[in-house]
Amino acid sequence: MPKLAISGGRPLRGEVRVSGRKNSAVAILPAAMLAGGASTIENIPAIDDVAVYLEILEAVGAQTRIAGGVVTVTPPTDPRLTPPYDLVKRMRASYYMLGVLLGRYGEAEVALPGGCDLGPRPIDLHLKAFRALGAEVTLEHGIVRVRATKLQGASIYFDTVSVGATINTMLAACLADGVTTIENAAKEPHVVDCANFLNACGARIQGAGTDVIKIRGVKELSGTNYAIIPDDIEAATFMIAAAATGGDVVVSNLIPKHLDPVSAKLVEAGCELQENGDHIRVIGRGRPKAVNIKTLPYPGFPTDAQPVMTTLLATAEGTSFVTETIFENRFRAVEELQRMGANIRVEGRTAIIEGVERLTGAPVVARDLRAGTALVVAGLAAEGETEISGIEHVDRGYERMAEKLSGLGAAVRRL
Ligand code: UD1
Repeated sequence: MPKLAISGGRPLRGEVRVSGRKNSAVAILPAAMLAGGASTIENIPAIDDVAVYLEILEAVGAQTRIAGGVVTVTPPTDPRLTPPYDLVKRMRASYYMLGVLLGRYGEAEVALPGGCDLGPRPIDLHLKAFRALGAEVTLEHGIVRVRATKLQGASIYFDTVSVGATINTMLAACLADGVTTIENAAKEPHVVDCANFLNACGARIQGAGTDVIKIRGVKELSGTNYAIIPDDIEAATFMIAAAATGGDVVVSNLIPKHLDPVSAKLVEAGCELQENGDHIRVIGRGRPKAVNIKTLPYPGFPTDAQPVMTTLLATAEGTSFVTETIFENRFRAVEELQRMGANIRVEGRTAIIEGVERLTGAPVVARDLRAGTALVVAGLAAEGETEISGIEHVDRGYERMAEKLSGLGAAVRRL
């Protein structure tokens, strides 16, 4: 298994370009299955979750081609409706195969998804929406079976804001008869990205980005050319890494608006931020100040950026409170940060961080994707050597992370 060795304590300097958004890619690649013809999707990041998704699409009979961040997906005419378990279990976003296979072919059998262990991650809202659209849904022996002769538009209210359930409902509903309304929909930019892709294919989706989405069913979709938006979490990671190392980094190819919740907290922590067009320059000014964070659905502070922000606050002056409201088990980096000298205690859903002057390098283990990134940033900021195992989690979601960090002057080696 790959490891990362970091010799820390060097301020990051220079410019880094953000790749395409992981959570858009893993929704739009399966969404391309809904079209009658081939779609070409640009700005796809070279990450392991994308590689696995392409395998899933091939396994159900699609043809895929990837070259330099551009992927072409040609949907099958006669698909297999049961994506293999050993691929599905490797990623949370494999649940989108339910929505697309049900929406286009009226039937699917997909194992419950895998992905990061962040506590219980039910898919009851997805299933509730499929049922509301008229599908017969069963869950037995870990396999979800969905079937419908013809889906019918429906009014669906989600009592919890869910990115996955919102996107899956759009996927299933765009070829249904009649109008579907999703209330209390997720507003994340990748929900909008996916809706824009589907509309480019001929779907009639309105309101994505607000909490009410209306989908007027159409008879068929056609393939299209589309470029996905930049990854805000990758951008946030580099911005926070610049702050944590007292560096000066221009993070380019991003949409500043999507970073607002993170930028606001960095400014509150005492960093200087300069926003210009599609880039943000972050200048770290000594030890950060303590700030309080509460994760919330977009446009609140993103749960995916919480672990790396916790790392930054580990060396802040004063006490920070970080409250995680989305996932139960999202402090998996904390124990490892303690090995590096951090003074953090977790009480229920809140981490209480007494900032220390500095972290010191240590051997640590990445236990999920974002906890892994938090440890990478900790290693960059710490004095001495940090060796991070479990780096395969980070490879799932970050394109060439070690190379990009080396470009900013970090001493990072893959082992
Ligand atoms: C997606 C993102 C993930 C991000 C998360 C929250 C993808 C592939 N993953 O995950 O990176 O951390 O959004 O922004 O886009 N819930 C239910 N029942 C359901 C579905 C969700 O109770 O059927 C709950 C979850 O347990 C969680 C909350 O709703 O507490 C939000 O989860 P959701 O937005 O669905 O997250 P994911 O789609 O799993």
